[in-house]
Amino acid sequence: MDLTEKYTIRDLCLKEKAGTLKDIDGETIDLGGFVKSNRSMGQVGFLSLNDGSCYTNIQVVYDASDKKIEALRLGCSVTVEGKIHLTPEAKQPFELKAERIELVGGVSEDFPLQKKKATFEYLRTIPQWRMKTNTFNAVFRVRSTLAYYIHQYFFEHGFYWIHTPILTANDCEGEGQTFQVYADVKKPAEYFNKDNVHLTVSGQLHVEPFALTYGKVYTFGPTFRAEKSNTTRHAAEFWMIEPEFSFAHLSDDCDLMEDFLKYVVSKTMERCPDDIAFFQERIDKGLIDRLDEFVKKPFRRVTYTEALEKLEEAKKQGHHFEVDDFSFGLDFGSEHEKYLTEVVYKGPIFLTDYPKEIKAFYMKQNDDGKTVAAVDLLVPGIGELCGGSERECDYDKLLSRMNELHMNIDAYRWYLDLRRNGSIPHSGFGLGFERLVMLVTGMQNIRDTLPYPRCYKDMLF
Ligand code: 4AD
Ligand code: MG
Repeated sequence: MDLTEKYTIRDLCLKEKAGTLKDIDGETIDLGGFVKSNRSMGQVGFLSLNDGSCYTNIQVVYDASDKKIEALRLGCSVTVEGKIHLTPEAKQPFELKAERIELVGGVSEDFPLQKKKATFEYLRTIPQWRMKTNTFNAVFRVRSTLAYYIHQYFFEHGFYWIHTPILTANDCEGEGQTFQVYADVKKPAEYFNKDNVHLTVSGQLHVEPFALTYGKVYTFGPTFRAEKSNTTRHAAEFWMIEPEFSFAHLSDDCDLMEDFLKYVVSKTMERCPDDIAFFQERIDKGLIDRLDEFVKKPFRRVTYTEALEKLEEAKKQGHHFEVDDFSFGLDFGSEHEKYLTEVVYKGPIFLTDYPKEIKAFYMKQNDDGKTVAAVDLLVPGIGELCGGSERECDYDKLLSRMNELHMNIDAYRWYLDLRRNGSIPHSGFGLGFERLVMLVTGMQNIRDTLPYPRCYKDMLF
């Protein structure tokens, strides 16, 4: 089969938008897809067919005297041979006049999708089917599109994609919330001859040597965290994008993050207008305005210390926080992030220069001796979308911080030595891919952006 010669519904919609569908008006084409609905009215019947290529269903008009076709139900797979028919006066600008409809796969009585709306909670119990619903069909199309533009952005800006390992013996974030890996539970150290092998929590450490060689690189892959957080924003398995670049300081890191995010969001909005319109209509009425603003307005840059003052002020004016000891060193919770982005700054903010105690060992130590050149991008409705920093590139400073934290220096010798041989100032950040999908679709739970969610106490098959 020559796929390039077969039309999808998306091809037809694009032709219609470009005004060239009339060139194939009356032509016979083949389509394959699954039935979304079927109704007959006297002589004629109408099948609504989706092939997954885009949000739109095509209307297939058939002769209702054919009882076998009239009996086709939601979820049946069919192929249709029919003539394209332009209907500029009707709600849908074109339809397919069926000449032959063939049932390819029928549905059983217990098929779990029905015409009536199912809850997202229920649909989470059937991940193998939920992509056939309008919402999830659109979510995973947008997810794929975002991934494409992420690669495109980096490719066009001279970044090389480095495939960092999933199995690792180093804990990048130093929180120890890792999934252990071994071949034999009775002899866990035997296979790799290492005491502690686990699934990666970040590709950063492994990608840094590449940044010091290639200048601009990134990783994009599965990431695993064993934090016992049962929230709408945490998954045990998620995807992370981590650019890392040389001769770059904290402000360059923020510039890259902002330019990159605005690019991928605006390109995805352009490419998937129907999906985005659907999310706006059904999921989140403020979505398009918020995304337009995200793309157009510069992100505010605020230091941790300034943010702390704003929270203290709010407290004095009577705002209630669950945690309200705003002394230097407090690790902001989601109530604080929400207040800062939604009430104080009313938009995304870069929060920079955090106390070193609440950030990872590899971050560049500022001259004040208290803070590090870290940045989190906080976004209304999402919270932390990205986290990054300039890296400590001075050998002695990095070593002394690692000693303060009682880290196993031998295990990180390979990393430390990067600071003894051709060290370069460099920076990077990590973007949680699912949180980006949440931002662009308006979906409220990370479980609804992952094809097969793996979360705390939550894995089906
Ligand atoms: O802030 P994090 O922990 O940063 C790092 O891992 C750095 N090594 C990144 C770097 O500088 N290269 O994680 C980065 C992002 C967070 O901002 C968040 O969006 C996402 O990853 N993230 C999660 N997403 C879903 N579920 C979880 N459990 C997540 N933990 C982090
Ligand atoms: Mg973080």
